[in-house]
Amino acid sequence: MRKRLIAGNWKMNMHWNEAMTLISELVQKESEGNWRNADVTIIPPSIYLRSAFEFLKNSGSKIELGAQNVAATENGAFTGEVSASMVHQIGTSLVLVGHSERREYFAENDEALVNKIRCVLDQNLTPLFCCGEHLDHRNSGNHESTILHQLESVVFEFTADEVSNMIIAYEPIWAIGTGETASPQQAQEMHAFIRTSIQKKFGNEVSNKLRILYGGSMNPENAAELLAQPDVDGGLIGGASIDANKFQAIIEA
Ligand code: PGA
Repeated sequence: MRKRLIAGNWKMNMHWNEAMTLISELVQKESEGNWRNADVTIIPPSIYLRSAFEFLKNSGSKIELGAQNVAATENGAFTGEVSASMVHQIGTSLVLVGHSERREYFAENDEALVNKIRCVLDQNLTPLFCCGEHLDHRNSGNHESTILHQLESVVFEFTADEVSNMIIAYEPIWAIGTGETASPQQAQEMHAFIRTSIQKKFGNEVSNKLRILYGGSMNPENAAELLAQPDVDGGLIGGASIDANKFQAIIEA
């Protein structure tokens, strides 16, 4: 049985006071609500990770922390970069890799993504690898081949053991931040396709265990139906994750 994971990607949002307020609201909701059916991870800007870690630890929360990005190399003269070991040491357990915004705005290519995942795994952190197609790929019927190519050029570079420590998020780019969502049927189809592709390459054990999250305008209204799909094992939530009420509603959906 795969336990559901709800991960909140805050992106580059919220100033210090707002971020700390949101964390304390979430801890409050966790203590009052029913969060037993899901693991919950928040992914704030890196600069907030240490304070978030201390707050969560001191309040006995089970909420885990993720980083939005790490460098593709372990250390050295790379001004402005933050390494996987740095985020690991301050209490992070997961790292996003391959988010479409990183691919598009920061020109992260497959080679960089492979190197990042390597750094993340070396620190015993969990890589959350994102894949997803543009609208024109879907409209031309090439959505599956696009996803397969993204898996082949990054995930297939690793061993079955390594892949069993990863999580994958299917995030159709046309649904990210647009208010438009994949239908539950579209999501299920793509998640099943990803699981089958992993099964063919790495076998049943890895594919059955793999958590595949859906991302792209998930909100309290559509979460229950998306999460009810057999191959949808959770959500990677952007916009709705910086509102404590909405995030809680998705966790409890
Ligand atoms: P969204 O973002 O929920 O705001 O569409 C999802 C994501 O980018 O991970």
